[in-house]
Amino acid sequence: MFKPLLQPYAAPKDGTPQPLPISKSSKFVAIRDTLTLSTWLLLGGLLQGLALTALGPYTLVPTVLVLLYRTVDHLLMIYKITPNRYENGVINQKYTAQHPNASGNFTSLASESIVVFHLGARSNHPLGIFAPGMKKLADRAESMTKEMTADPVKYGLLGVSSYIKQDNPAGNEVMSIYYLRDYEALHAYAHGPLHLDTMRWWGEIAKDHTHIGIYHETYIVPKGGWENIYANCPPTGMGATFFPVSGEGEKGDGLVSGIVDARIPGLRSAAKRFGMKSKVLEEREKEAAELYHKY
Ligand SMILES: *[C@@H]1O[C@H](CO)[C@@H](O)[C@H](O)[C@H]1NC(C)=O
Ligand SMILES: *[C@@H]1O[C@H](CO)[C@@H](O)[C@H](O)[C@H]1NC(C)=O
Repeated sequence: MFKPLLQPYAAPKDGTPQPLPISKSSKFVAIRDTLTLSTWLLLGGLLQGLALTALGPYTLVPTVLVLLYRTVDHLLMIYKITPNRYENGVINQKYTAQHPNASGNFTSLASESIVVFHLGARSNHPLGIFAPGMKKLADRAESMTKEMTADPVKYGLLGVSSYIKQDNPAGNEVMSIYYLRDYEALHAYAHGPLHLDTMRWWGEIAKDHTHIGIYHETYIVPKGGWENIYANCPPTGMGATFFPVSGEGEKGDGLVSGIVDARIPGLRSAAKRFGMKSKVLEEREKEAAELYHKY
């Protein structure tokens, strides 16, 4: 039996669904990614220059104060005088995400199949996220995620993490990775009112909005066919998934995080987390055994 590292979330007493306890993605990140770093700097330079010309050298005061505050704030963290804010929510050890059983106990490895769904969008347009149609697309995507995360048990959603690609200086793809209970849940959602309406909308606008790129990828991963390891990370990816548990116990119904302590022999290596039993793998791992046990 594996040791869970996070407390379960008890469902509300009034019978309403327990929403997924996930962090929201920041709109500022998408806005920042719309312009290159040099454009941001030039814009700042221009604004500062205009302010300087119109109002005189005092307009430098706020800029200097903010920069000074941030520099001091970060120096204090670097020299460990104040707590390192960047470690907030970080779990400072090695952990892995597993699937609990229906009463929230972790009894076996990768014990259920899961569905991993990548949903992406990009703007191939000089206006980036401000290009025609992008706001409508973003609003629809947000409504769908909101609907699913508000009632994860109904929609079979276990977790979702969002990312921005980084192969361009600006205007990269955004992608959300959804972890779901099974394909039936995903298919039911895709044929529900909100998604069908979005498909209808897309069908109408696609021809004259060729600058909007969208895609998805679906992976149906059989039980025993997935593994993961995290060290010194906040819950992310499969580590940020939550599983419904039925409460015979005093804790009641609710959601249980999949995160368990990975510092036990049975969870040390990837092959072990897959539950693979092979002499060849074991022999090879023996040579690196101390690496697996160092942290
Ligand atoms: C989950 O595992 C625990 C520990 O083995 C066991 O007591 C419990 O009955 C299991 N629950 C279900 C629903 O199988
Ligand atoms: C199963 O999980 C519940 C909730 O975390 C816990 O209270 C209980 O002790 C666990 N059962 C076993 C057999 O460890």
